[in-house]
Amino acid sequence: MNILLLGGGGREHALAWKLAQSPLCTGLFAAPGNPGIAEAARLVDIDLADHAAVIDFCRANNVGLVVVGPEAPLVDGIADSLRAVDIPVFGPSAAAAQLEGSKGFTKDLCRDAAIPTAGYVRCTSAEVALAALSDFSLPVVVKADGLAAGKGVIIAQTREEAEEAIRDMFGGSFGASGAEVVLEEFMEGEEASFFALTDGTNVVAFGSAQDHKRVGEGDTGPNTGGMGAYSPASVLTPALQDAVMDQIIRPTVTTLAARGTPYSGVLFAGLMLTTDGPKLIEYNCRFGDPECQVLMMRLTSDLVALLLSVAQGTLDEASGPSFAPDPALTVVLAAKGYPGTPEKGAPIALPVAPDGAKIFHAGTMLKHGQLVASGGRVLNVTARGATVTQARDAAYALVDQVDFPGGFCRRDLGWREIAREAGSAAD
Ligand code: AMP
Ligand code: GLY
Repeated sequence: MNILLLGGGGREHALAWKLAQSPLCTGLFAAPGNPGIAEAARLVDIDLADHAAVIDFCRANNVGLVVVGPEAPLVDGIADSLRAVDIPVFGPSAAAAQLEGSKGFTKDLCRDAAIPTAGYVRCTSAEVALAALSDFSLPVVVKADGLAAGKGVIIAQTREEAEEAIRDMFGGSFGASGAEVVLEEFMEGEEASFFALTDGTNVVAFGSAQDHKRVGEGDTGPNTGGMGAYSPASVLTPALQDAVMDQIIRPTVTTLAARGTPYSGVLFAGLMLTTDGPKLIEYNCRFGDPECQVLMMRLTSDLVALLLSVAQGTLDEASGPSFAPDPALTVVLAAKGYPGTPEKGAPIALPVAPDGAKIFHAGTMLKHGQLVASGGRVLNVTARGATVTQARDAAYALVDQVDFPGGFCRRDLGWREIAREAGSAAD
């Protein structure tokens, strides 16, 4: 079967690498892809906003499955356009992708389906939001409703900070995404990510991970898309995962199906593990980046068979998913300046990754035959090991062989899990 993968970051490189390993995959195309993805796929130049062009390409090249990596084309309805002409697609409709596209939409769904989450108020004007502030204790969380590349969340420690965030958002600092604002109660606990595949009716768990959102060591400095991740997250015990499936994931899938807008694709739940149990922070309608890289390093099932069964509504007939028990950890090498304005164009020379390790390209391009940095997050150096500590050691050993003077990484990735491993070794 010919497959078209949409996107061009580290998440898509990991997906391409795994899709290409399937005996079901006879041809893999990627749009736009990147130089790493080009090892596994033929890169094609299609404007993802031009749905007719995507459909024409699929028809001309006998594509039997489209896999959508990022959220923007999903929120923009690419899966609807493909489904309308019977091209199987992995990814939710625009209506279901509102789970990521609108924080208010997700909060209302949680209220309707009694899903545990932080208390909230949706506000359509600064006046309403400023008045509603008095109902919240501090810190209070102020969120732009729409897509904001992970930057539209302010945890305000004081009322003045909250008021400033509200005025900024309604003042247009997040464009249309800030036309509505959600105020939320602050939740305390450890964060973890949980993934599930669903075809709209059937649901299976698809692993756990934890990422490091802050740019600096010790989880300091501004938020990023993620400076590294590992899988599994041992804090999400089997009992907690069952609770997440029962109290959060299944009610979401059932409610969206009952509304006539079934969710088909991967559900990525950001969770807060509170003393009252797991609560939903937010949903994403696609795989996490760089969480996907560590999940793909551990996946032992055929990814094409799984994603196709999701696209075709036959997930109940698919086997798996199964994951290797040993953990994987990925280190993000970012360009200097990230998460502000990254320096582009710095040259990169890569070593050959040993067995059990892989370097995924996130923001690279070829310039006159030379690999150079082209984005904020540039490489995802990923390794497996018998423990997170060993996976971390293997990943950093490979990082040290990468020649990328224009880049930097955090050196303390996995610290929570490594402390837990050290603690249990000492027991
Ligand atoms: P989001 O984009 O909604 O995932 O929020 C980004 C980050 O803000 C999350 O990963 C959390 O660290 C934090 N956050 C968001 N909402 C809350 C909340 N209600 N309570 C505590 N922290 C939150
Ligand atoms: N790493 C977080 C995300 O993909 O949203």
